[in-house]
Amino acid sequence: MRLANTQDAPLGADMEQWDEFLKGRYKQGRSEEEFRQYDAQANPGVARFYLQNHENQSFDYVIAKEKEYFSLNKGQKSIWEAAEFLNTLVDDSDPDTDLTQIEHLLQTSEAIRADGHPRWFVLTGFVHDLGKVLCLWGEPQWGVVGDTFPVGCAFSEDIVFPEYFKNNPDLNHPVYSTKYGVYEPNCGLDKVHMSFGHDGYIYEATKNHLPQEALYMLRYHSFYPAHKHGAYSYLMNEQDREMFRWVNEFNKYDLYSKGHVKPNLKELKPYYDDLFAEFFPATIAW
Ligand SMILES: [Fe+2]
Ligand SMILES: [Fe+2]
Repeated sequence: MRLANTQDAPLGADMEQWDEFLKGRYKQGRSEEEFRQYDAQANPGVARFYLQNHENQSFDYVIAKEKEYFSLNKGQKSIWEAAEFLNTLVDDSDPDTDLTQIEHLLQTSEAIRADGHPRWFVLTGFVHDLGKVLCLWGEPQWGVVGDTFPVGCAFSEDIVFPEYFKNNPDLNHPVYSTKYGVYEPNCGLDKVHMSFGHDGYIYEATKNHLPQEALYMLRYHSFYPAHKHGAYSYLMNEQDREMFRWVNEFNKYDLYSKGHVKPNLKELKPYYDDLFAEFFPATIAW
């Protein structure tokens, strides 16, 4: 992937590869053991991203990135403008068959719509990856995509490639390396800082406009250690447990809706114009 018309994109050629790989892995239901044995060799680029991700996503890094981005001071954009901005990430690998970012979003939302889900759910499908605009603001791919996990407490063995945390500064920290770290038992995920990425960012940008179920889907859609392995249940409260049913429901569409049938943007646009207007003001802060 690269930035359209830009030579030196901050985004590596393989962000999409990493993201796709993640999905392929969970979709196929491979065990952690199988993944370690085969995929590190088969996908050295992916392994390298996890290494960078696990080395760098420390409590201090996350707090600094939250401070930088969660104040939403990058300007106002409509949902379409954000999607078009994201669309300036284009895929070099096969321009004939690969879908644009907007087409990917529409595939997810249209699959949700086809199953007769409520309008807020369809909308959630469309916006769920808009947080990847972080790439366009110079964030490295390991800081935008991939599995997310809590920081400020011990890393779970259920996080992909747990051994790659060996160089994370928090690994032997007197507080951050303990089971609960800076948190209380069952304090609720709202109090927990997650590794930084596109999930937390789109949650912040949309949190005043969408129902709680939608916000859980957005905020935790890459929290695979929890939704695939049940990890970190000791930080969750009743509300989290209730809401994770929705996160799991959303996850099916995120994992399975990708294909190569191009959604017809022109035909679909009026429906989405109405949908965006129903939930969002003309522009929101990013
Ligand atoms: Fe995502
Ligand atoms: Fe996605």
